Amino acid sequence: MIKIGNVEIQNNIVLSPMAGVSDSPYRQLCREMGSGFAYTEFVSTDGISHHSKKSIDLFRFQEMERPISFQVFGNNLEIITEACRIIEDLGPDIIDLNMGCSVAKVSHRGSGAGLLRKPEYVGKIIESMTKTVKVPITAKIRIGWDHDSLNYREIVHVLQEAGAQAISVHGRTKSMAYTGFADWNIISEIKSFAKVPIFGNGDIHSYAQAKERIKTSGVDGVLIGRSAIGNPWIFANVDKSTLTFPEVRAMIFRHLDLMTNFYGEQLGLVLFRKHVAKYLKNYFGVSELRHKLVTTPSLEDFVGYLNSFNPDHFRMETEEDKEVLNCETYATV
Ligand SMILES: Cc1cc2nc3c(=O)[nH]c(=O)nc-3n(C[C@H](O)[C@H](O)[C@H](O)COP(=O)(O)O)c2cc1C
Repeated sequence: MIKIGNVEIQNNIVLSPMAGVSDSPYRQLCREMGSGFAYTEFVSTDGISHHSKKSIDLFRFQEMERPISFQVFGNNLEIITEACRIIEDLGPDIIDLNMGCSVAKVSHRGSGAGLLRKPEYVGKIIESMTKTVKVPITAKIRIGWDHDSLNYREIVHVLQEAGAQAISVHGRTKSMAYTGFADWNIISEIKSFAKVPIFGNGDIHSYAQAKERIKTSGVDGVLIGRSAIGNPWIFANVDKSTLTFPEVRAMIFRHLDLMTNFYGEQLGLVLFRKHVAKYLKNYFGVSELRHKLVTTPSLEDFVGYLNSFNPDHFRMETEEDKEVLNCETYATV
């Protein structure tokens, strides 16, 4: 069990915050499958402070998701503080400051990973957040802006001194974006001197690998991002490649149901398209089915396509399949 302030976390493998992916339906599903807590996608403090409905709506959640961490991003102390005051009334268990987003329109404006360049100011922001709200404040960082400015030691020190109660570390720099590999030696080093719980993050592809990372780096927990998209089973230690078509289909229906209940039928179906494409990724012989599912505007047809699919040949794609596919593509060029 991990404690973030007074919040108890029962499981140390957690769904990473992902804009457009880790919404309430998907968080619910991953919590059911074993993710240790729910982490919202990042929400702009500018939007929150203007009481934008679109921003505030991103914090809608179900009680079963608790503990839930609301993640915010911004670059201004007063606005971030005001946003914390506003969202505390919505009942989060934790509020997290995003210091890792590498996207230019966020980081180049001094938000997300842009905050890594202003350690002193970050200290003031975190201090102000902790003084303003009663719930624990945490931060999610990268290891530096680029390889010439790896300032994770200073950043972690500043965060702790200012009152942050846990830190998540994506082991890349801002300039790496998603290239190369997360540096787990640095994550391990951070754990060795940190006084607060550390969640390591980056390039974890399975439950077994998550456990291995926890063991070898010593971190308190890990976050799984991309490998959890279309794969909630990862939190239950179930290898997706062993599943039958009816098992995959049952999960698709369950997720779709959560989406349509949450967003309404039309929007829920449209937003579900990217998920269903990921559920069916790397399976052989499903390209026609996938195409129908991601284009149909009808919920009834969507369900019909899945129910009438012949699962006899359903299996994971092999390297040989991929080669054949490449040759076919080549032949049509
Ligand atoms: C589509 C997408 C959206 C993301 N949105 C967020 C976000 O809102 N907040 C955040 O802290 N990180 C966000 N991230 C970063 C992930 O949480 C995670 O740190 C990163 O993907 C590395 O972990 P992974 O290798 O397990 O994917 C996002 C990543 C992806 C792929």
